[in-house]
Amino acid sequence: MRVFVTGGTGHSGAHIIPELIAAGHEVTGLARSDASAAALSTLGAKVRRGSLADLDGLKEAAADSDGVIHVAHRQDLLPSGGMDAVAAAELPVMLAYGEALAGTGKPLVAAGSIGSPGHHLGRAATEEDPALPSGDEHKGTLRARNVVERAVVGLADQGVRSSIVRIATIMHSTTDSAGFLPLLIALAKEKGFVGYPADGANLWNAVHARDAASLFRLALEKGPAGKYWHAIGDGGIPFRDIAEAIGTRLGLPAVSVPVDVLMLPAYFGPLTNLVTLNLPASNLVTRQALGWEPAQPGLLADLDNSHYFTAVTAAANNDVATLQEFVTRMQAGDRTEALDMIDADAVWREADTLPWSGEWRGPDGFVRLDCEINTLAEMTVRDYTIVEAGEVVEMRLSAVFTSRKSGRRLPMEIVEHYTVRDGKIHGANAFYKDTQAVNDLIKHG
Ligand SMILES: NC(=O)c1ccc[n+]([C@@H]2O[C@H](COP(=O)([O-])OP(=O)(O)OC[C@H]3O[C@@H](n4cnc5c(N)ncnc54)[C@H](OP(=O)(O)O)[C@@H]3O)[C@@H](O)[C@H]2O)c1
Repeated sequence: MRVFVTGGTGHSGAHIIPELIAAGHEVTGLARSDASAAALSTLGAKVRRGSLADLDGLKEAAADSDGVIHVAHRQDLLPSGGMDAVAAAELPVMLAYGEALAGTGKPLVAAGSIGSPGHHLGRAATEEDPALPSGDEHKGTLRARNVVERAVVGLADQGVRSSIVRIATIMHSTTDSAGFLPLLIALAKEKGFVGYPADGANLWNAVHARDAASLFRLALEKGPAGKYWHAIGDGGIPFRDIAEAIGTRLGLPAVSVPVDVLMLPAYFGPLTNLVTLNLPASNLVTRQALGWEPAQPGLLADLDNSHYFTAVTAAANNDVATLQEFVTRMQAGDRTEALDMIDADAVWREADTLPWSGEWRGPDGFVRLDCEINTLAEMTVRDYTIVEAGEVVEMRLSAVFTSRKSGRRLPMEIVEHYTVRDGKIHGANAFYKDTQAVNDLIKHG
């Protein structure tokens, strides 16, 4: 499919584009700046210059495509106009897509919120619960945006295969830099303790951004019209458990914050209205209808990801921090500084069944191995996690190999066990999920 994607440079969008491309779709992303255009190209998407304000441009892009995924949002309007302004800017965008796609049966999949069916249901929210109406009495509240979800789902009546993917309150991944987790972690560091409201028994939900991305793809490919889908990995985690998990990693106590007009805003600031929400949610209908299965680490496991706690990990776990530093230097293009971290006797061991099999020694060996792999196929890393695993430091990589012969892409999960001592890397053993598939790609394209 030729898919038009907005928000492709954001947290969810940057996972959605590689997910679509790996499944064989052709993606065009909306970019409003040179930096966004470059980021989209790096992800493998074509670029369409424009912004959410250009409704004619969006209509044209939608009409030119076989389907649309819309995850861009005007967060810049929040400080001045709140959710009312965000919704007012977003509604015409959805109606513009509706005009372009009416009667075509083409898919339009847009981001929604797991809060839209309400948060006093007394049970888990399901996909059958519609977004509650957002009348004047709900101006200024989160519910104001429900008008957008209802409009998108309503486009089904006009022959658009439209649906809403309701995203969990916490979307987490190695590329999460501005979501709720970084905000909660920053608050804890600033205040010296990790706050939770009252007894912290209220339930929050969470999803890994890569799992959310696979749901957007499935909804695009085969979701029926007029549906709500739930991008929910963890359906209900007590807020207190999240606070305690953060506290353990930061070495800070988790402390109850009284729910009163002074104490709660004093700790949580702009998050005050959100932290007391109780939002248990189910994903059963989504899994059954679309065959979606969250496969990535859950929220509490993902907190072991050094991305969230780099500075702390440096004190608590030097080996994990060393490997993180090595990767960060490589990613920043500081190759010489990165290679300085490799011990002269380091050994990289690759499986006998791989085209780049055998042992590669020292910093030179690392460079030659990297060169050998990238001569045979372009290797890009979509996502990675670094965790302590007993004697070794484990790096879990989600990579894509692109054939130099045919351009075919092969997603591949790789686990690498690094030996790290005293700030130096002493090599690694690599384990590929399917070495035969890698061989096939190199030999036959
Ligand atoms: N837990 C969650 O994170 C959560 C929960 C519920 C719902 N959601 C919803 O899910 C959606 C995606 O969230 P996200 O966290 O992935 O987004 P994000 O990281 O904040 O990224 C926002 C994206 O929107 C683009 N954008 C903003 N203003 C634009 C404009 N005027 N013209 C064109 N593009 C513009 C940005 O492009 P630039 O690169 O140019 O800035 C960026 O790609 C949003 O609707 C959000 O409300 C998220």
